[in-house]
Parts: sequence; C-alpha cells; structure tokens
Amino acid sequence: MINQIGRVHSNSTGLMASDTKLNLTVIALLITTVAAATGYTNHTVGGDAGWFFDSNTNKSAVDYSSWAANQTFNLGDYLVFRTSTNQTVIQTYNETTYQSCTMDDASDTDTFQYNGGNTDFDQLLTITVPLTIEGTNYYFSDADDGVQCQRGMAFEILVNHGIGLPPSLNQPPPPPYVEPPAADSAQSPPVTISGVSPSLNNGAVEVGADAGVMLCSLLFAVAGMLMF
Ligand SMILES: *[C@@H]1O[C@H](CO)[C@@H](O)[C@H](O)[C@H]1NC(C)=O
Ligand SMILES: *[C@@H]1O[C@H](CO)[C@@H](O)[C@H](O)[C@H]1NC(C)=O
Ligand SMILES: *[C@@H]1O[C@H](CO)[C@@H](O)[C@H](O)[C@H]1NC(C)=O
Ligand SMILES: *[C@@H]1O[C@H](CO)[C@@H](O)[C@H](O)[C@H]1NC(C)=O
Ligand SMILES: *[C@@H]1O[C@H](CO)[C@@H](O)[C@H](O)[C@H]1NC(C)=O
Repeated sequence: MINQIGRVHSNSTGLMASDTKLNLTVIALLITTVAAATGYTNHTVGGDAGWFFDSNTNKSAVDYSSWAANQTFNLGDYLVFRTSTNQTVIQTYNETTYQSCTMDDASDTDTFQYNGGNTDFDQLLTITVPLTIEGTNYYFSDADDGVQCQRGMAFEILVNHGIGLPPSLNQPPPPPYVEPPAADSAQSPPVTISGVSPSLNNGAVEVGADAGVMLCSLLFAVAGMLMF
C-alpha cells in the first residue's frame, strides 16, 4: 500500500514537473473525474433478507420503509428484488394506488407489475427494476389481497437526478430533439421523459461522452457569455 502510494505520488510529480505535459495531466484529471462519476448502484431490496413476507407471523421480513430511508437512489440505479412468486412487485407513481395496496383501480400509465404471469407459488426469482423517472415512486406487494402490503411489504423512494440516465435506459426514446434557438434562454425548455431540465442534462451527457466535446462546449459557453 505504502509502495503504491509512493509510486503514484512520484509519477504525478514527474508529470507536474513537465510543462509540456501539464495540459495532458489536466485532461486526464477531467476524464478520470467523469469516469468516476459514471457509477450506478444496484440496491438489493431489504438487503440479505430480500423481499419476503412470512405468512405464519404475518410480517414482512424487513421494515422496508426503514431500509429505503437509509439509501440514496439515483436515475439509472436498479432495485433488485430477491423474492419468490409468493410476493409481487408493483411499482407506482400514484400515491393513491400505493395507499390502497391494490392495483385494481390503477392506470396502466402510472402503475406496473413486474412479475405477472407466474402462478406457481414458492418459485424463487430475482426482479430488477431500473429507476428511470426522477421523483417519488412507490413499491408494494399486492399478494394475499393486499395483506402483505398492509403488513409492511411497501415502501417509498425518492429518485434523484444523480448523473442522469445511461443511454441504455433512455427508453422509450424521446421525440426528436429540436435545437432551441441559440442564446434565447428566455424560452422554457422542452420537457423530457426523465423530467429534468434538458439543456443542462444533455450537456452533461455529452460531457461524459467526450472530453473534447466538453472543452468545445466550455469555449462556446464562455464565448456566448462574453457576447452579452
Ligand atoms: C445491476 O443490475 C443490472 C440489471 O440486472 C445489471 O445489468 C448490472 O450489471 C448490475 N450492475 C452491477 C454493478 O451489479
Ligand atoms: C394478518 O393481518 C391481517 C390484517 O393486516 C389480518 O386480517 C389477518 O387475519 C392476519 N393473518 C394472520 C394469519 O394472522
Ligand atoms: C444505514 O446505513 C449505514 C451505512 O451503510 C449502516 O451503518 C446502518 O446500519 C444502516 N441503518 C439501517 C437502519 O439500516
Ligand atoms: C407461498 O404461498 C403458498 C400459498 O398461499 C403457501 O402455501 C406457502 O406456504 C407460501 N410459502 C411461503 C414460503 O410463505
Ligand atoms: C391515481 O390512481 C387512482 C386510482 O387508484 C385514480 O383514481 C387517480 O385518478 C390517480 N391519480 C392520478 C393523479 O392519476
């Protein structure tokens, strides 16, 4: 460990000593910073205990609200439900549906069941749910006619923007992007599916994709500000 630190230290000292390599060092630092920020987290719901209801004790395996309160959720993260077909995984953006513990009256557009179809009991399965929309959303199991949900199989999370969605999760594709008139910042920006302020978001995605693009964007931004 000490050896590694010493080696890294002398390497970077060597780079810093050379003026011609200073720019490269700065660019490398920028790339490193961008790469370090591209991490997404998989949250295993309930930790090791998973997503289970014990019908003998009539209790959830974990206090899922407490579990959720101790996590930070960002766009592009996944919820991983280690569970069995005795529980269901319902995701909703509708608090009324969440409070009701049933999806009977729910709308297709704000409520989704992730493990529909398998009617055999006790089949182990893992369900992964990508977090694709910023803001509050809710999860519950509607099994046992809502008793599981009423007895703890329910939790609420707040999805933060974080670094935004990775391209692989940017589904469904948004309508074709129309370039707003340059320097007309008074216009309100178009709304995107992830509900974030799009001009900033798009900029950040491009920055992540290419440090060269970022430097160009910075130059244009500075030039734009100087023109005012
Ligand atoms: C997180 O889960 C997704 C979906 O199953 C998977 O593609 C990805 O590799 C996982 N990431 C990590 C770090 O485990
Ligand atoms: C479990 O709790 C529900 C109320 O939340 C109750 O209606 C049901 O009878 C209980 N079941 C058992 C087995 O105790
Ligand atoms: C919350 O997270 C911290 C750090 O990961 C951990 O030490 C603590 O035990 C957790 N608390 C609960 C209630 O899970
Ligand atoms: C799963 O549900 C079935 C039917 O209600 C029940 O017989 C079985 O004991 C349940 N399994 C567990 C592990 O609770
Ligand atoms: C939420 O769902 C309920 C039915 O569970 C429905 O009556 C209500 O209109 C929905 N709210 C919104 C804002 O869509």
